[in-house]
Amino acid sequence: MPPTITPMDTTMGATVTDIDLANLDETEWRMVEDAFHEHAMLLFPQQNLTDEAQINFALRFGEMELLRGDPEAKAVNISNQKADGSVMQPGEHGYNTLRGNEGWHTDSSYMPLAAKASVLSAQVVPSSGGETAVADMRDAYDKLDQEMKDRIADLSAYHSLYQSQAKIGVTVKTGAGYGFHTKGAPLRPLVYTHPVTGRKSLFIGRHAYRIPGMDDAEAKELLDGLLEFACQPPRTYYHAWRPGDVMMWDNRCTLHAARPYDYSEPRVMRHTRIAGEPANDLVATARDEAASGFEPSSSNL
Ligand code: OGA
Ligand code: MN
Repeated sequence: MPPTITPMDTTMGATVTDIDLANLDETEWRMVEDAFHEHAMLLFPQQNLTDEAQINFALRFGEMELLRGDPEAKAVNISNQKADGSVMQPGEHGYNTLRGNEGWHTDSSYMPLAAKASVLSAQVVPSSGGETAVADMRDAYDKLDQEMKDRIADLSAYHSLYQSQAKIGVTVKTGAGYGFHTKGAPLRPLVYTHPVTGRKSLFIGRHAYRIPGMDDAEAKELLDGLLEFACQPPRTYYHAWRPGDVMMWDNRCTLHAARPYDYSEPRVMRHTRIAGEPANDLVATARDEAASGFEPSSSNL
């Protein structure tokens, strides 16, 4: 039986069933790849992948991004549970990173090479909350009025983890490496053209913070307004996880956010991230005073 691809009741996303991601034949893989480009987000319920299978599935889409700068870290936990089984407490670095994930974002936009896609699987889920929300930035762009399309056509924004964490009152300052703008913050156009589909999308999110040539207050108002407009129905999908579910999204044309939950309960997600393609997703970085003066961080996802 071929896989069944059922589009969601939103402008993006499809649920794929009758499929075993750990054992794809060529025809099935082509269907998945096409569906990924068409729908921008795919949900594969009840796959129960091993780490190896999740990594191998992700590798079909491209090279892995070296998470946390560690060549061995092809899959990492997005979790409030620590190695000893206890849960993270407010104020801990990992806790702050998770709270940051509750803001709409796209992965690695603050790195010079932004991510292509992410694959997330649920291992342990809390009794309520902790959904993952995804929003379609292709439809968001399409629905802007012409005046706004013209206004943003040639604008770019800096993306910085320090700035996005600062917005929630957190100063990033531990460790070394991943996420640190050693060469300044990446400057990314507000409109992204997808290399496969040619569709335009809004490229924004919590890490975007400053627009060259524009007053900072005006830039903030513009970026906040776009984000507010973009992450609304019918462009949004909220997934209530069951352990074993797998979701993947195209970081180039969607935003995602974790939904809050009771942090006294463990939530364990497994994350694999596919690197962007240098021809499309590598941008220049520039030093600007707002992005400097921070210390590096070791584990910012
Ligand atoms: C991620 C992420 C959200 C979540 O995996 O990149 O932001 O719901 N996850 O855990
Ligand atoms: Mn993320």
